[in-house]
Amino acid sequence: MDFEILINKHRSIRKYKDKKIPDDLLNKILNLSIRSSTAGNMQSYSIILIKDEQKRKDFYKQYHNQEMVIQAPLLIAFCSDFNRQREWSKINNADVHYDDLLAFLIGVVDASIVAQSFALGCENEGLGICYLGSALRNMERTAEFLKLPKNVLPVTLMVVGYPDEDAECKDRLPLEALVHNNSYKDYSAEEIANYYKEKDIKGWQRYKEMNMFKNLIEETAVENLAQLYSNVKYTKESHRKASESILRCLKKYNLFNFN
Ligand SMILES: Cc1cc2nc3c(=O)[nH]c(=O)nc-3n(C[C@H](O)[C@H](O)[C@H](O)COP(=O)(O)O)c2cc1C
Repeated sequence: MDFEILINKHRSIRKYKDKKIPDDLLNKILNLSIRSSTAGNMQSYSIILIKDEQKRKDFYKQYHNQEMVIQAPLLIAFCSDFNRQREWSKINNADVHYDDLLAFLIGVVDASIVAQSFALGCENEGLGICYLGSALRNMERTAEFLKLPKNVLPVTLMVVGYPDEDAECKDRLPLEALVHNNSYKDYSAEEIANYYKEKDIKGWQRYKEMNMFKNLIEETAVENLAQLYSNVKYTKESHRKASESILRCLKKYNLFNFN
């Protein structure tokens, strides 16, 4: 598909048909995705395919109450992985390290790039995708669920399947809000208000119409989208908890070793 058409057609899909993805199609998309750039061509990521229905149900129940996890025939995890490289180093009598924050972050970038290539590959074949925030927000539980060894941690999760909805096209900040020339140009309050104008109206309206948020908005008396994000959806407390969990994981999974 033409890239402009492909990218403009992107919508996160949250309703899926009861239809499996043929293995050869999945392999074709995976094979194309792994052509993505990676740091030093080390390919410091692993991809875990979760097709098993019971396993997806377990994930849904324990970690992520989003119906699409059961509906979509594939849940896929992209992980930062230095386990493999360490083993390769070992058998070649090379230094075995990559047990630090830099290694984890290299894997995060590699895994994110390959995930987005995979997402585009899926959409190019008429499949729909939706990322899930669980990999970072519930890192400890996700890592246990995936039975990850040391030096491997989840970066992002995605559901994939045949779309069963015409999802709406979501707003984006305008280009001038996102792109800086030569160096970072900080924003005035007026510029911010102007750039977020569409989001403030459309995004707020969308949340007010969502069953999940309607009551919450009334109960918490939040008055706008920024308040809904900061005070309700992504609270300081939830960020602190997730950050602590990530730090615990980094230590437990040998990616924060400064000895
Ligand atoms: C890292 C990441 C995590 C996300 N997590 C979730 C999620 O847990 N549940 C969900 O419904 N959508 C999730 N999304 C999808 C976003 O909500 C979506 O991309 C955004 O609203 C823009 O909509 P669009 O993709 O349809 O353009 C996630 C997206 C990203 C990139």
